[in-house]
Amino acid sequence: MDRIAALKPTAVNAILAEVRALQTQGKQIVSLMRGEPDFRTPAHISDACTKALEKGRTGYPDNRGEKGFREAVAVKLHRDNALTYDPGREILATSGATFGIYAALAALLEEGDEVLLQDPVYDAYQSPVLLLGGVVRKVKSEIVNGRFAISAEALEAAWTPRVKVLILNTPWNPVGSVLTTDELKAVAEFCERRNVWLIGDEIYEAITYGGAKHQSAPAVVPSLKDRYIHVNSLSKTYAMPGWRVGYCAGPAAMIDRMFMVLAQSSRGPATFIQDAAAEALSGSQACVDEMRTEYTARRAKVLAALDGIPGVAALAPEGGFFAMADIRARGQASNDVRRRLLQEQGLVVVHGAAYGEAGEGTLRVSFASGGEVLERGLEALRRGLA
Ligand SMILES: Cc1ncc(COP(=O)(O)O)c(C=O)c1O
Repeated sequence: MDRIAALKPTAVNAILAEVRALQTQGKQIVSLMRGEPDFRTPAHISDACTKALEKGRTGYPDNRGEKGFREAVAVKLHRDNALTYDPGREILATSGATFGIYAALAALLEEGDEVLLQDPVYDAYQSPVLLLGGVVRKVKSEIVNGRFAISAEALEAAWTPRVKVLILNTPWNPVGSVLTTDELKAVAEFCERRNVWLIGDEIYEAITYGGAKHQSAPAVVPSLKDRYIHVNSLSKTYAMPGWRVGYCAGPAAMIDRMFMVLAQSSRGPATFIQDAAAEALSGSQACVDEMRTEYTARRAKVLAALDGIPGVAALAPEGGFFAMADIRARGQASNDVRRRLLQEQGLVVVHGAAYGEAGEGTLRVSFASGGEVLERGLEALRRGLA
């Protein structure tokens, strides 16, 4: 079987190709599409990188992760997530969450094993599953009381004896839900009952709003820890997407397996990058609070812009930097609406259906960019939808 032929570009990349074609015709485009923070990496983190370079920290890294970085991760996981991991054996440095997810899946999957994914969800989870010989099964979510939710029944309905792992993204891209304690308990009970591993992608953990607070599933149900792999990254929290640095934590035997995958491929982030990442995790967290404050203001602008448009309801995000516009009342396919916004208004958003069938009837509006881009984008969105 040609596994490469089964791989697909992400929705964002497919839409970018459409955008480039329009740009070459001279069309002005404004994008509320991407999940890339528009902040510069905070200075104390960049300075730590410069200092590391000046000190000659350019040799091969410890492929599990530099000791200082792994120790900083362990302290951070204890401080922020109430999780205890041994930096010597239970933590792995990775090139972003992307590689963490890949290594976790590679360590877990045998040919034909099934992987449960929330529907809708970040669409880049599918290709690594397929590349590794796995099969994707969707856990259908529903909009209940203005937020997307997955239920214990939906998890059960998606389960088969071949299911090996569930990837859980909370705060949840694209829909913005932050799983509640009860929802996390339902997920944990399901995983334990059905002998399923849980990969927790918690990359948006620091960006939450109002009363919503991110929790790691094993902090709610400690017995889950034996079957849980924590995947995280500095890309969003510290505005470091281009640094390609993240980390995983899990049971020592599983981290050993993931390390074997890493040792045959990326061999981990650069040494000086890990020094900067350690500074990010251990240094002042004021920058994280400042960015959250700014995202909170942007979120309010998006919700205000969507207010009062006939047939449109904004789903106020509890976390992350995307808001979903619920356009189901209009009875139009989300991809048609997206295309019209692009062609008529020069506005780029992502149709909810790109993230799974359960996302049909919604549009994902990113506020990872603020300022003039957000202002112009929201004007175009209002004009286009009104
Ligand atoms: C849910 C989710 N996981 C992972 C990633 C990729 O993270 P990284 O930059 O750490 O590879 C993204 C980026 O958009 C994401 O939204």
